[in-house]
Amino acid sequence: MPIHYTSSTQTFHLQSKQVSYIFRVLQNGQLGHLYYGKKLTHREDYSHLHRIEARSNTAAVYEGNLDFSLETIRQEFPSYGTTDFREPAFQVEQPDGSRITQFEFMDYAISAGKPKLEGLPAVYTEKDKEASTLIIRLHDDRLNMDIHLSYTIFEKTGVITRSSSFTNRGSDTVKLSKGMSLSVDMPDYDYEMVHLSGAWARERHVKTRQLEEGIQQIGSTRGISSAQHNPFFALKRPHTTEHTGEVFGFSLVYSGNFKAQVEVDHFGTSRAMIGLNDFDFSWQLQEGETFQTPEAVMVYSSSGMNGLSHAFHDLFSKRLVRGKWRDKERPVLINNWEGTYFNFTEDKIVEMAEQAKECGIELFVLDDGWFGKRDDDTTSLGDWSADERKLPNGVKGLADKVKAAGMDFGLWFEPEMISKESELYKAHPDWLLQAEGRRSSHGRNQFVLDFSRKEVVDHMYNQIADVLKGAPISYIKWDMNRPLTEIMSSGYPAERQQEIAHRYVLGVYDLYERLTSDFPDVLFESCASGGCRFDPGMLYYAPQTWTSDNTDAIERLKIQYGTSFLYPIKTMGAHVSDVPNHQVHRITSLETRARVSFFGNFGYELDITKEKDLSVLKDQVSFYKKHRTVLQEGRFYRLESPFEGDGNVTSWMVVDEHQQQAVAARYQVLEKPNSGLPRFYFKGLLEDVLYQVEGSDESFYGSELMHAGLPLQHKYTWKKQGDYQTTLLVLNAIK
Ligand code: GLA
Repeated sequence: MPIHYTSSTQTFHLQSKQVSYIFRVLQNGQLGHLYYGKKLTHREDYSHLHRIEARSNTAAVYEGNLDFSLETIRQEFPSYGTTDFREPAFQVEQPDGSRITQFEFMDYAISAGKPKLEGLPAVYTEKDKEASTLIIRLHDDRLNMDIHLSYTIFEKTGVITRSSSFTNRGSDTVKLSKGMSLSVDMPDYDYEMVHLSGAWARERHVKTRQLEEGIQQIGSTRGISSAQHNPFFALKRPHTTEHTGEVFGFSLVYSGNFKAQVEVDHFGTSRAMIGLNDFDFSWQLQEGETFQTPEAVMVYSSSGMNGLSHAFHDLFSKRLVRGKWRDKERPVLINNWEGTYFNFTEDKIVEMAEQAKECGIELFVLDDGWFGKRDDDTTSLGDWSADERKLPNGVKGLADKVKAAGMDFGLWFEPEMISKESELYKAHPDWLLQAEGRRSSHGRNQFVLDFSRKEVVDHMYNQIADVLKGAPISYIKWDMNRPLTEIMSSGYPAERQQEIAHRYVLGVYDLYERLTSDFPDVLFESCASGGCRFDPGMLYYAPQTWTSDNTDAIERLKIQYGTSFLYPIKTMGAHVSDVPNHQVHRITSLETRARVSFFGNFGYELDITKEKDLSVLKDQVSFYKKHRTVLQEGRFYRLESPFEGDGNVTSWMVVDEHQQQAVAARYQVLEKPNSGLPRFYFKGLLEDVLYQVEGSDESFYGSELMHAGLPLQHKYTWKKQGDYQTTLLVLNAIK
C-alpha cells in the first residue's frame, strides 16, 4: 500500500516508486505540509521538516506561547484569519458574519483504486492496484461542517490527484466563497513558473517567469477555461531543461472559470494552488448539502519538462480519455469549413467527399451551416435540423451518399448557443443567460443558453439525439464560440446567482455524459473557436480537441509545442489548410503544412476539388497511415523549442513503445545563408541498436543518433532552399 499512516506522529506518507508526499496533524488539529518531491525512505516521524520557532512581529495561536504560528508553518489546506496571512484554500461565510473556522483532523480512510467524482470529469483507475486513495475528514464543531480532502496516488508514476468537498451538517445555511482543489506549500521559491497563455489563434504559448515575492496568478473569468490561460502551471528549477532537472506540474480537470497562483511569502516559501476561480463565485450550502470541487492533478518529474509531459500524456491518454475511441486509431478527416464556409450544397459536399476518398481520407466532417437557415453567423443556432435549401435530402440523405462514397460522416454542432433569429428563441426567449433590465452582450451575434437549467440541457439532448438516431453519424464536432457574459439564470434565486458559472459547466458535462454514453460509437471532438477550451475536463468526454483556428504551419509550431506540455499529440486536431493561410495570409508549401500536421490528429480543411495534383495528398495520407500507430501512440519528445533563442528552429519526434521506430521532424522558419551544418539529436532510442534512416542506405547506433547527433546533410534534407523548410526523418531498427 503506497499510503502510510503513523498514528504515534499522526503523519501521512503517500509514497510511490518515484514520489513522496508527506503531511501531518499539527497541535491545533490542522494539517501541516512536510514534503513533496522525489521519493524519501519511509520513516515514522518527519516532524524535523517543520521548523517551529518564535518570530517577532507575528501572531501566535496559543496565549502564552509564541512558538506556534501558522505564519511560519507550511500548511496542507490553509484557512485565513488565525495567524496565517497568505491566501487560504477555502473560506466559509457564516450567518453571524464570521469567516473564522476551525477545521480539525477527525479521521481518515485508505482504499485501493479511486472513487468516481459524481458529475465531474476525473482521472480513473482500471485496476484497484494501480492507485490508492486517502480521504481525510476535517471537522469544524461550532459550524458542524466537514471538509473531505481526497488524495489518490498512482503507484507506478507517482501522479497524485486531489480534490476537496465541503458538507454542511448544521442547520444554518452557510456560503462557501472559495474552495480550491489543491494547495501545497513549497519550502523555497527558487522556481520558474511555466504556464500556457495566449489568445484566440495563438493559444498555449509557453511563458516562463522567475517566482518573486507576492502573488503570481493566472486564471479565467470567461466561463470557459480559455485560450488566455490554460488551467495548468509548472514550477521548475531554473536549470531544468526539456530533458533534465526537477519540475512540478499542476493541472485542473475543469472547463470553466479557474484560478492558479503561487504566493511567495516573506520567508521565501511558495504556496501553489489551483481550483475554481473564487472571483464572482459563491455556493450556498444548506443543511445536508455538499459541494465537490473539481479534481486537480499533480505531477513531479526529475527528468525535465519532457518527463513531466510523459506522465501527463500517459495519464490523460489512458486514464482520463474514456470509451471505445481511447485505444482506437483516429481517422484521417477532411472538414469543409475553410473550404466552403457557409456556402455549400449537397452536390458540392459529395464531390469533396469523393475526391477525399480517392486520397485515402477516411472521415468527412460537415461543419457549420447545415441547419436552420444559416447562411452566416447571425441565425439558427438552437434549431438543429437540416436546412433543406442546402441539404434537400436531409442529413441522412447526405450522410448516406458520403457513406456510399466510402467515407464515414461527421457533423458540427454548437449545443450551448442560441441565435435570436431562431425558432428556439421564439419559443424560449428566457433560456439565455441574461440579467433582467440589462442589455445582453453578444459574441459573434450569438447568445449563451442557460445550461444551469436542466430543461435546457434536456431539450438540447433531445434535438442532438434525434439527429444522431436519424442518420449514420460517426463523429461530432462540438463547438462553443464565445465567452459567457451576464451570468444570471432565471431558474435560480438571487442568493444562488454566483453559482451559475459553475452550474453552467456542470450542465455541459451532463449533456456530454448523456450523449457519449448513449452514443458510444461516436467520436467527439471538442472545439471552442479553435482552442479556447482545450482542457482535461473536455478530454474526459471528447477524446480530441480542435487545437486552434489558426491553421498556419508556422504558427502551429508554437501552438502545438505549448499544447504538448500536458496534452498527448493524439488529442490535438491538426489540419492541412489552403494558402495563403486564412488567418495570417502566409504561404507555406503543402509539404510543410503536412509535416506539422502529422504531429497531431491529422486531417485536411480545404476545398479538395480545387487541388490540381491529388498525388501529393495521396502520398501524405499514406505516409500518415503507415506511421499512424507510432504517431498516435508513441512517446513524444520535444527537442528544440520555438520559444527559446531566436525561435527559428523547432524540432520534435515520436518513438514507439518498443523503441523500434521513430518519426522526427525539424522545422526552420527563415533560411539562414551559408550557415553551419545542424545536427539532429534523437531521444528515447535504444543505445546499442542499429537504426536505418528511411530513404538512405545508412544506419547508425541509437547511441550515435542520441549523443553524437545526425549531421543533417543533403541526403536527409531537401536541397531546396528558402524559408519554412522542413526535414522529416524516419528511423527503423534493423532486426
Ligand atoms: C469556430 C471553429 C471553426 C468552425 C467555425 C464554424 O470558429 O473553431 O473550426 O467550426 O466555428 O462557425
